[in-house]
Amino acid sequence: MGATLIKNARIVNHSGIANGDILIEGDRIAQVGDGISAGGAAVVDASGLYAMPGFIDTHTHFDLDLGYARTADDFLSGSAQAALGGTTTVLDFATQDRDGRLRQAFDEWMEKANGSSVNFGFHMALARFDEGVEREMDLMAELGVTSYKLYMVYDGLKLDDGSIYRALKAARARGALVGCHCENYDVLLEMAREVKARGITSSAGHPLSRPAAVEAEAVARYMRIAELAQAPAYVVHLSTKEGLMEARRARERGQEILLETCPQYLVLTDQRYEDADGAKYVMSPPLRKPEDNAALWHGVASNEIDFIGTDHCSFTMAQKSRGKRDFTLTPNGCCGVRNRAELIYTHGVLSGRISLERMVALLSYNPAVTFGLEGRGEIAPGCYGDIVLWDSASKRTISDFDPSPYCDNVPYAGMEVRGAARSVFLNGEQIVSGGKLIKRGRGTYIPRKPYKNPRQ
Ligand code: URP
Ligand code: ZN
Repeated sequence: MGATLIKNARIVNHSGIANGDILIEGDRIAQVGDGISAGGAAVVDASGLYAMPGFIDTHTHFDLDLGYARTADDFLSGSAQAALGGTTTVLDFATQDRDGRLRQAFDEWMEKANGSSVNFGFHMALARFDEGVEREMDLMAELGVTSYKLYMVYDGLKLDDGSIYRALKAARARGALVGCHCENYDVLLEMAREVKARGITSSAGHPLSRPAAVEAEAVARYMRIAELAQAPAYVVHLSTKEGLMEARRARERGQEILLETCPQYLVLTDQRYEDADGAKYVMSPPLRKPEDNAALWHGVASNEIDFIGTDHCSFTMAQKSRGKRDFTLTPNGCCGVRNRAELIYTHGVLSGRISLERMVALLSYNPAVTFGLEGRGEIAPGCYGDIVLWDSASKRTISDFDPSPYCDNVPYAGMEVRGAARSVFLNGEQIVSGGKLIKRGRGTYIPRKPYKNPRQ
């Protein structure tokens, strides 16, 4: 691969902004500075554009089979959408079968990810915890899997509190981080029964069955289990003010807590469940109230929330219609892997809630540090050439027809956004030009280093 010189960019790192040029040689950034001479390098003029480190999505489900429904996107279509949105690395959830081995899940996900257009790594989602799983965690570390996910919900995935405690201890001993989907499953099942008994069977019942306290109780419990296990803990897709308050309390006790939220919990509310296409918004946790949006934005701005993932988990409206007469049968999840940066730029940066540097911390730097993605998340000599040239003047309305050839809906449809990834470089190679994907399938697996806290 020849050298590329990106000229006259406004370079945004989490630590500051500077004007300059970026010389890429092979897959790495060779030089960053003013007036770098091109030599034999191909020149890309970035006048008027921001250059940001390629965005890292901490939470995708590109090829998830629920048994009764399989996500519309696979790695090929999901990763193409990711690239168009400026995301150069995704962390997807390889998911263990209840009676399967971690190695099987890893191999299965490597197979699924073959041909990805962006770089990828895996969190390992545990469906059980026992001594065999603990032994396999050593192998996972060798393979570069340094984070795990536990579910407090879903038949076939839910772990009991004792297993959560054991998993946290085992992961801590190996420098790995454990994320948890925090909702109280037993209570929400009861509440869903109550809601349906009241005659509410449409999507409007979904948020009623999973109120904020269902999440907050589970966050508090997870925090306490982590305290007992003396392990760092990460909450995935935090959606409520009350959950944030529980995490804050744990930090005040001196615990090491990492928090992820998603654009849907910042820019959408549970009003959407009243819409005719309410099933589109059936995801877990559900959309919340405006006061939750506000509290999460505050957390995002004040450094309480560490990163923003999408939880991209796409189902078509036909698949969603499974829950037409019973909201509990709707496949959970929504699209969004393409929309994260444009939403955060529009509603975060342009609305004055966060700085551009903070956007880069949330979307690039903090995920890279936390999840051991060495040499990513920054534009600096020696780092990989994962770079987005961001056009702040671009303006568009998100459409249900955007997401991919396979999915027909996105919860942000109709929203006007500013800013777009004009060009994207992946491992030093340009894969997006003029907002179009020009090279597919160039992503590589990234074996990850142990977890590090970006606050330290
Ligand atoms: O509704 C959601 N979020 N579906 C994806 C799986 C999960 O719970 O993260
Ligand atoms: Zn998820």
